[in-house]
Amino acid sequence: MATDLPTQILHALDTASALPLVSSTAFPNVEATVVKGALDSLQSKEMVVYETVDREVAVLTEEGQSIVNDGSHEAKVYEAVCKAVGGLKISELPKLVGANTAKVGQGKAFKEGWIKKDGDKLVKKATSIKDSSRDQLRTIAETHTHPEKEVLADLKKRKLVIMQKRISFKINKGAKFALQVVKEETDLTAEMIASGAWKTQKFKPYNFAALGAHTPSGALHPLNKVRSEFRNIFFEMGFTEMPTNRFVESGFWNFDTLFVPQQHPARDLQDTFYISDPAVADKPRDDETGETLTEYWNNVREVHQEGKFGSLGYRYPWKEDESLRLVLRTHTTAISAAMLHKLAKNPGPARYFSIDRVFRNETVDATHLAEFHQVEGVIADYNLTLGDLIGFMRTFFGKMGVHQLRFKPAYNPYTEPSMEIFGYHEGLGKWVEIGNSGQFRPEMLEAMGLPKDMRVHGWGLSLERPTMIRYKVSNIRELLGHKVDLGFVEANAAVRLDRE
Ligand code: PHE
Repeated sequence: MATDLPTQILHALDTASALPLVSSTAFPNVEATVVKGALDSLQSKEMVVYETVDREVAVLTEEGQSIVNDGSHEAKVYEAVCKAVGGLKISELPKLVGANTAKVGQGKAFKEGWIKKDGDKLVKKATSIKDSSRDQLRTIAETHTHPEKEVLADLKKRKLVIMQKRISFKINKGAKFALQVVKEETDLTAEMIASGAWKTQKFKPYNFAALGAHTPSGALHPLNKVRSEFRNIFFEMGFTEMPTNRFVESGFWNFDTLFVPQQHPARDLQDTFYISDPAVADKPRDDETGETLTEYWNNVREVHQEGKFGSLGYRYPWKEDESLRLVLRTHTTAISAAMLHKLAKNPGPARYFSIDRVFRNETVDATHLAEFHQVEGVIADYNLTLGDLIGFMRTFFGKMGVHQLRFKPAYNPYTEPSMEIFGYHEGLGKWVEIGNSGQFRPEMLEAMGLPKDMRVHGWGLSLERPTMIRYKVSNIRELLGHKVDLGFVEANAAVRLDRE
């Protein structure tokens, strides 16, 4: 009676004289994957326990098999020579036994001393022969190995035998071994309770180790994950988020309000994307009243052109047209300027931040894109000092897990003093530049109408850099743009910067 494989295994195990039962001998014609399937199901019911054994076995090649069937090349040559009365012409041999057999077999038959040359003929030398190649191959066909290592190596070299991986299973009885596979219920039903069948029914145990099925779903981009971490840090520290929906700004907000002279290299076409249609903005207006900000506009011009509020100015003819040109914002400090200008209406301590996209006309390479994201913070308060800024940076970056900071004097047109911030990155084992910062210049703030004793600190960093370090991405194009691998986006874990 044909029974299913699990039942066959149980029966074989019950009658097996030697334990463990080895699958390759008990079920030689069943594929390993099928045996494994049956064993897994039996093992989950604790009816058997098994282990997998990988081994290498020797199997005959097609040529090896043909030698087992018909004899070796040298034996064929010997036979052909024996049959030919009065010797066999050498040139006749290939016609009788085939070219390959003639070539390989002749040499071997000479070496074995089975035949010899007589003029242009081959004649028999040994009265009888023993075809040991054939015997060796027979042994291998039966046992999948050969007791003599050299023989095996030689046959492999002659391409008569190859080694193959075979998987078999050593099977032992399990704790719940039985000859019948008992069907285990997976659900307790109302009927079982009503009839009382539940008392004797076998239930399949829960598999708490089973992995859940993968549910396809949306995934946050790594930049968004790091962004949300930064936002949490800012909110924790009492910051308000600035509106960042203006990708296009006038030169006025992007540069002039920040005391960036109109000849500054950053304003060059090489560094800044200018908008062609429309190419110019209206004069800056108050968001709420719609009135042109004439006084502020004039202050900015004077600060640049003649100097004001204690500043000598740059002393060049400041051009309105240049200030009205529309640009893709090159930094989010344009927004900080607009927010500080608003703050001047009702001055008081304030903390603002933003995280959004900025644009620079850069040559795209492994670490630079023409657009990236800036993390920016601004703190306004009375009588702040550089020490406050440094102290704040230590707390801020500390929350990101960067505890060693160094500050290097730097230059920004809008801050004095300015500092580059370097952090020691434990993972990379080196100091990396992590931000730019400074104390906004009085001629910038006073032009807005902020009180003289109000100081404003600002700093900025890219969102890409910490993200690349966090996710070990060395080419920015793997993070942003059309080359991004969606699998990478889906598979990456969320970030807790302070826990890393
Ligand atoms: N705007 C600067 C940058 O793009 C960052 C910064 C903001 C520096 C505010 C000082 C003050 O790198």
